[in-house]
Amino acid sequence: MTNSENVLNEKLKKIESEALAKFQACQTSKDLYDSKVYFLGKSGVFTEIMKEMSTLPKEQKPLFGKAVNEVKQALEVAYSQVEVALKRAEAESRMDDEKIDLTLPGFDEVTGHQHPVTLVIHEIFSIMERLGYAVRQGPLIEKDYYNFEALNIPADHPARDMQDTFFIDKTHVLRTHTSPIQIHSLEGERPPLRIIGTGAVFRCDSDISHLPHFHQIEGMCVDQKVSMADLKGTISFFVREFFGTGLKTRFRPSFFPFTEPSAEVDCTCPICKGKGCSLCKQSGWIEIGGCGLINPKVFEHANVKYPEWQGFAFGFGIERMAIIKYGIDDIRLFPENDLRFLSQF
Ligand code: DAH
Repeated sequence: MTNSENVLNEKLKKIESEALAKFQACQTSKDLYDSKVYFLGKSGVFTEIMKEMSTLPKEQKPLFGKAVNEVKQALEVAYSQVEVALKRAEAESRMDDEKIDLTLPGFDEVTGHQHPVTLVIHEIFSIMERLGYAVRQGPLIEKDYYNFEALNIPADHPARDMQDTFFIDKTHVLRTHTSPIQIHSLEGERPPLRIIGTGAVFRCDSDISHLPHFHQIEGMCVDQKVSMADLKGTISFFVREFFGTGLKTRFRPSFFPFTEPSAEVDCTCPICKGKGCSLCKQSGWIEIGGCGLINPKVFEHANVKYPEWQGFAFGFGIERMAIIKYGIDDIRLFPENDLRFLSQF
C-alpha cells in the first residue's frame, strides 16, 4: 500500500465515523437532512475526497473508488434508519400536541335576543294589522315642510319649541316625530286609509324619562265618517291587547297643531302601580303619547277633501311602552346595548 493510499484510506475512515456520529446525534429530521447534504451532497465532503483520488497511482484508483462507494452506501443506510426513527418521533409528538379530548364539555351556543324596542314594534304591528292597518315608513332626515309646515306647525309657531329640533340645515331636520309619515302617506295614496308607521326620532333632550334618540309609532285612519269615539275605541283596544287588562289608561285633553280636538294618553305607572315615584314624577301615570282628530289644515296641505274625508291619528313612544310592559325603571338602558339588560327579553 502506498503512502498516499494509506493517508486517503485513513481519511475515508475518519469521515465515515464522523458522519455516522453526526447522523446519530441529530435531533430533528431537518438537522439530519442538512448533515447528509454536508457529507454526501454535490459539493460535500465525499466529492472533495473523490477529487483527491487523482493523487493515487492508476492501479490503486479502482480499489479506492470501490471503498468510497461502500462507505457511501453504508452512510445512506444509516441515514435512512435514523430518518425513520426521527420522523416517527416527530409524528408522535405532533399527535400529542394535537390530541383532542372528546370528554371535554362543549361550548354553549350564544343566541342573540331581539331588542325590547324591536319586540314592541313587532307586537304593535301584529295588533294593528288585525284592525286592517298597513305598515308605512318615512325618512329620518325630513324637510322642514313634512316635519312641521304640512302638520300645521308654521315657522315661528310656539309648538316648534316643544320639539327641541336637531337641524341639518335651514330646510332639513332630523325628524322630531313620526307624524310626517301621515303626510307622505296622504300624498301617495288615496283614502280610505289605515296606516301604521314606526321608526327612530330625534330630540335635543335627555334625562331619566327622555332620550335624544328614541322611537315612535304613528297610526292614522282616514275614512268618510270618523269620530272621537272611533279613536277612543281603537286606542282602548290597542292598549288592552298590548298591556293586558290589568292596566288603567286615561285620555287627557291636550293640544297638537295637527289634531283638533287632541288628547294625551296615559297608562298606570308599572313601577309604583299608581302610588307615585321618580319615574312617573309622583303622578302615578306614564304618558305614552298623543292623539286626536286630524286637523282640516293637514288635509288641506295634502290635497285631501274635508269634510268628505275625516280621520284620526295617534303617536306613541315605543320606549315608554316597553318601560310599562316590562317594568324598566330607566329609559337610558335602551340605547346602551348592555347584554345583561338585553338578554332578559
Ligand atoms: N307627534 C306627536 C309628538 O311627537 C305625537 C302625536 C300627537 C302624534 C297627536 C299624533 C297625534 O299622530 O295625533 O309629540
